[in-house]
Amino acid sequence: TITALDAWEALDSRGRPTVGCRITLQGGGVGRVITPSGASTGDFEAIELRDRDDRYSGFGTRRAVASLRGPIAETLIGMDAADQVAVDSAIAALDSDAALSGIGGNAALGASLATLTAVADTNREPLWRVLDPTGVPLIPLPMVNIVSGGAHAGRAIDIQDILVIPVGSTSFTEGIEWVSRVRSATAELLTEQGGWAALVADEGGLSARLDSNEAALALVTGGIERSGLGVGTDVAIAVDIAASQLVDAGQIRLRSENTTLTSDEWIERLVQWAQQYPIVSIEDPLGDDDWGAWRRASLELQNIQLLGDDLFATNASRVDHGISQQVANSVLIKPNQAGLVSRTADAVATSQRAAYATVVSARSGDTEDHWLADLAVGWRAGQIKVGSTMRSERTSKWNRLLELEATEKTTYAGRAALAPLR
Ligand code: PGA
Ligand code: ZN
Repeated sequence: TITALDAWEALDSRGRPTVGCRITLQGGGVGRVITPSGASTGDFEAIELRDRDDRYSGFGTRRAVASLRGPIAETLIGMDAADQVAVDSAIAALDSDAALSGIGGNAALGASLATLTAVADTNREPLWRVLDPTGVPLIPLPMVNIVSGGAHAGRAIDIQDILVIPVGSTSFTEGIEWVSRVRSATAELLTEQGGWAALVADEGGLSARLDSNEAALALVTGGIERSGLGVGTDVAIAVDIAASQLVDAGQIRLRSENTTLTSDEWIERLVQWAQQYPIVSIEDPLGDDDWGAWRRASLELQNIQLLGDDLFATNASRVDHGISQQVANSVLIKPNQAGLVSRTADAVATSQRAAYATVVSARSGDTEDHWLADLAVGWRAGQIKVGSTMRSERTSKWNRLLELEATEKTTYAGRAALAPLR
């Protein structure tokens, strides 16, 4: 039974306010979490409550904290914490808006996740075990940021993330060492090209001012080569276009190249890149409501993992729609897009039932918390994306997975987790 709930304004890795929440159960179990926050947010995700006053340039979260200490606490105290669905339904019932704009998606997620972590604490078991009571823990394949652009790096290039996946690694521990090697090699190459490799973007990736988007693909491919690892066999490339940020009157606007492409021209270019570079995954290539163009991309890029982030917004009914239209083949899972643990779990289950791959993801504004790693393991997601191999809000998640692999009997998802799943 939930006996107390407290909340406070905390800071995320961008130095912006976010929400901390602590829930105490009868018997003394405690759950304590800080929620993350995105920059390239989509139109269909849960809405954060912000103060919009003169503190922290309007980003303050005192109103979200107040909704936790007020209506959410009044509703949850006395409830059974083990019934996550009932807890989440009670939180959702406080808001007439499904996007949780009234109580705040940030407040809702804080209470929902703190409930789950309090249950784990009461049971004296790790968080992943609450979600997967009988399985051998499945350690996800990592997708790791190397070069950033878009909203995470002052729009140096248009593509938001060029990432790598250690597709040939036989353990998570090996995979992380490989991608760290690739990051160093890419930084060396960038320095030789006259870039300043000491600059890091929001997720710890290199923030490079390059001549074109393709130059970033060439740079990271060169980094893999220089690392001595097999290009495409050991380590492959993933991109997150975050196209919701680029759509301009139905077309794709590439500011760094001063051009605008129709969606068909843009898809054609992606197909070319996929032939020329060792690309195995493309996230959000098109706008988050352009189902027609997404369908065309899905037909053109059938052998690639086509990953919906803003498109699906961790929303089971949007995922269902995508499945019925045969759009994409994998789903990015961000708990704060859904705003509640059980809504997030629904999106995971809906994806998995249709053999869509799932990639659990951090946000560009994240925190030192590492519950995300346990959610990825507990939901048997298969893949995880949390940014670079540096900055503590990133390494806290990698470190949790390194700990699990080193100290428990686990299995590693490896490249079999990549879509298209067979
Ligand atoms: P965001 O970026 O947290 O700023 O939305 C992450 C992503 O787009 O995957
Ligand atoms: Zn994304």
